[in-house]
Amino acid sequence: MPLVSPSLLSADFGHLSRDIQMLNESQCDWFHLDVMDGVFVPNISFGFPVMQAMARDAQKPLDVHLMIVQPEKFVAEVKALNAKVMNVHYEACTHLHRVVQQIKAHDMMAGVTLNPHTPVSVLEDIIGDLDLVMLMSVNPGFGGQRFIEHAVEKTRRLRELVDRTGSNALIEIDGGVNRETGAKLVAAGADVLVAGSAVFKAADPKAEIEALRNL
Ligand code: DX5
Ligand code: ZN
Repeated sequence: MPLVSPSLLSADFGHLSRDIQMLNESQCDWFHLDVMDGVFVPNISFGFPVMQAMARDAQKPLDVHLMIVQPEKFVAEVKALNAKVMNVHYEACTHLHRVVQQIKAHDMMAGVTLNPHTPVSVLEDIIGDLDLVMLMSVNPGFGGQRFIEHAVEKTRRLRELVDRTGSNALIEIDGGVNRETGAKLVAAGADVLVAGSAVFKAADPKAEIEALRNL
């Protein structure tokens, strides 16, 4: 049974508190918050003032996904949201080891995210320090994109790396996750599923969350 982290990127921004309330009442485990800067990814989503408002209403732990350059500048701001997980991109961090230690020093779970083209093997020398690895199964920047099938095989390889090294890192997958792709990912070793459009475009979002949790 995976943890489910619905992505608020697919929520109705005109009715955010209503959608957050729905998630509070659902069986979801975390809230996935996607921050985009228009530089690291070709889109801009929302920033700290909006996330502070979300954090006030959220009754589940926050899983913050920073799709921004220089994420190390914002460790204290993410901590101030009372976030559980701070996810930074491998591709955005020149000194990844330092950023990971900074996140851990702020008592958050240190998550490192890999773009679809980045091999799992780049984590060999840091996997023991990580609390979570997130694999992108779409190119980051937009919700509602098609799942890149290669992510299933990549999840299997990451599972092997985590188990072989005795790392405690959770494996999270983000992008194009629905019941069908989610089932394959869980079989391959995923621990946490992010789902945006699959949840918010469903006729019954709470039932969809429950279905994903029971994969
Ligand atoms: C994409 C974001 C995802 C996105 C997922 O850049 O990181 O979290 O919201 O949306 P779906 O589930 O619709 O692919
Ligand atoms: Zn995300």
